[in-house]
Amino acid sequence: MKEKIAVLMGGRSLEREVSLRSGRRVCEALTERGYRVVPLDVTADLVPALRSERPDAAYIALHGKYGEDGTVQEVLEFLGIPYTGPGVVASALAWDKAVSKRLFRENGIPTPDWVTFSTAAFKEMGAATALDLVPDAVGGFPLVVKPAEQGSALGLTRVSEAAELPNALMNALSYGDKAIVEKWIDGAELAVSVLDGPDGLRVLPPVEMVALSGLFDFSAMYTPGETEYYVPARLDDAVMAEVVRLAGEVHVLLGCRHVSRVDMVVGADGVPQVLEVNTSPGMTETSLLPMAAVAVGVTFQELVELLTRAALDGLE
Ligand SMILES: Nc1ncnc2c1ncn2[C@@H]1O[C@H](COP(=O)(O)OP(=O)(O)O)[C@@H](O)[C@H]1O
Ligand SMILES: [Mg+2]
Repeated sequence: MKEKIAVLMGGRSLEREVSLRSGRRVCEALTERGYRVVPLDVTADLVPALRSERPDAAYIALHGKYGEDGTVQEVLEFLGIPYTGPGVVASALAWDKAVSKRLFRENGIPTPDWVTFSTAAFKEMGAATALDLVPDAVGGFPLVVKPAEQGSALGLTRVSEAAELPNALMNALSYGDKAIVEKWIDGAELAVSVLDGPDGLRVLPPVEMVALSGLFDFSAMYTPGETEYYVPARLDDAVMAEVVRLAGEVHVLLGCRHVSRVDMVVGADGVPQVLEVNTSPGMTETSLLPMAAVAVGVTFQELVELLTRAALDGLE
């Protein structure tokens, strides 16, 4: 028998069901690979469970708040349990799109023009009186409104006229304290996975998603048949090279380790724009990281073992 691995999944985030699907597959893969697996649905009993189980490492199959924002990572650091994926700071930076987009802009990484609104700016500072300035600030319609801290396109609305903006903002702000209004980029939607191992960074082939409904929303992400995937993405060589370079740069900029998945859109001008970084990418049947891995001959089981070994072997 190999080491004992606690697979953290579920939890109370809005992406609980997705995480349970990721977690079950991870548990199966680790079991088949000969590890002792302890599946843990994250509840208020997580810490006592980890203390009594004393796993050699934790595989984080959580998505969304607390699993992806540095919270569970901080708990695992405190308990001295090595874990898969980026550390506390990288997780926190990537989880907050308002912060990560600032970092992109300040470091010359293209990201669509945007403005950030917090509930406090509305309630305490009268920001609602300036909504008329928003379209010009982001380059006009259509635009997209989304929670700064959320995943799986929850709370996201594509807005094509000014009258829709207040409701879209209210909707996004019902998911958290900050919302982003961003220019909508028409073009190829990409997910670019980055792995790092003892031999350095490896950017996997970009996956292109074409949602048959026209919007890559929650249903398109997780319902087989609702989205067409192209691996590698259908890009010119020069654009492909730039996409790959950017993904590696973003991974390093945020201080990620082991794995990240950089979501991008390539507009009509051929310039890849970075939307966000995921530090605990989905591992479901329709997920993009496993799809990219399979395209280079890395099976799902091998991918899971590679990430687990990175944690066990202390790869920073
Ligand atoms: N500015 C944008 N332009 C075009 N499409 C976008 C834009 N923002 C989001 N999307 C679409 O919505 C999806 C989810 O948005 P994303 O920023 O990745 O947030 P999350 O995945 O955390 O919910 C993207 O994969 C993309 O299909
Ligand atoms: Mg995304």
